[in-house]
Amino acid sequence: MSDNTTNQGLEGITVAETRISDIDGESGELVIGGYPIEELATNATYEESIFLLLNGRLPTDRELANLRAKLAARREISDEVRAVLRRAAEEEKPAMDALRMGAATATIGTEDGTPQDDAQRVIAAFPTIVAAYWRYRQGKKPVAPREDLGHAANYLYMLSGEEPTDAAIRGLETYLNTVVDHGVNASTFTARVVVSTESDLVSAATAAVGTLKGPLHGGAPGPVLDMFKEVHESGEPEGYVRETLERGERLMGFGHRVYRVRDPRAAVLSTAAERFYEASSNTEFFETVQDLEECAVDILAEHKPDRRLETNVEFYTAALLHGLGIPKDVFTATFGVSRVGGWMAHCLEQLENNRVIRPRAHYVGATGRTWTPVGER
Ligand code: COA
Repeated sequence: MSDNTTNQGLEGITVAETRISDIDGESGELVIGGYPIEELATNATYEESIFLLLNGRLPTDRELANLRAKLAARREISDEVRAVLRRAAEEEKPAMDALRMGAATATIGTEDGTPQDDAQRVIAAFPTIVAAYWRYRQGKKPVAPREDLGHAANYLYMLSGEEPTDAAIRGLETYLNTVVDHGVNASTFTARVVVSTESDLVSAATAAVGTLKGPLHGGAPGPVLDMFKEVHESGEPEGYVRETLERGERLMGFGHRVYRVRDPRAAVLSTAAERFYEASSNTEFFETVQDLEECAVDILAEHKPDRRLETNVEFYTAALLHGLGIPKDVFTATFGVSRVGGWMAHCLEQLENNRVIRPRAHYVGATGRTWTPVGER
């Protein structure tokens, strides 16, 4: 018989022990591999974060060079994968569908490897998949990855075909580090469930992409950017916020299931975005973003006095990625380019001490029925 206690959405249930990241929702702290997010995000390259996640400590010079070389060597995708991405782009499938198709076919032409090999393969291939899809969407040829560029720089290069500036590379490194892991969120849980059956890490990454696609998980920065543009044009943040709430809609980029204060990732990305916009002398757009935050937090406090609603990660993700020239259509896929590192680290951690993840459901359906033949129903 089943237990009658049901935790909708598994809220408050602890499903794993992890060394990867820790969140304190009350005080608004996020720690990755023991480092406060503010420190890791602004100092590390994405490769350093990946090493930390996969190995539990920062790499030495040599270890870092080794990981960079291994990832760089695994960036290429096969002609077959490119053909799938071209078709997806021609049919104007969303970027997350293309990333799911690319992830699922990423092992074509590769040898079976260890879980660690699979982890590196998908981490390395994700930027190439997204960039190739995006180039096809623009009616252009994909730009081949360059082994001499770092992970972040190479992604920007493959998207635009131009070598990125140091400021843009630093901006993207900061973004990729900031969102690389965040406890057992829905997509990370999905990845852990898949490998807990002793399936493989590429399957886990593919399933996790499907989970990240949903608007309740990774889909908010696109609508956030639309909101910025509308407010920037009208110059009326207050009117926008009040009208949105009066229509009974939620304000995108605010509120969080875990944080009861400002999302610490919003703070990191806000500083990174401010630095980037100031350096590029495009401060007006960013001023709109800041005005909107200030005004929305006040109005949300009036609107929901018993629930603190502050800026979440998606708000400044939209500002930063837009500033970096990353198209809105690939915002969520760019989140995937980062988060795949967290997924892979969680999969390896799950396998260290595995037990198949198999919760129960409380049955509330019919009972005591007797069979009626089809013609008599
Ligand atoms: N704008 C307006 N009201 C909001 C809100 C927002 N962004 N976020 C939450 N609320 C309100 C809800 O309407 C609800 O009010 P009610 O009790 O009168 O129904 C109350 O605050 C609690 O919301 P709840 O749905 O229980 O919060 P949650 O923890 O389940 O939701 C989010 C968290 C992120 C899904 C939610 O805040 C949201 O939808 N935000 C906007 C989308 C977004 O930015 N997503 C990215 C998340 S990183």
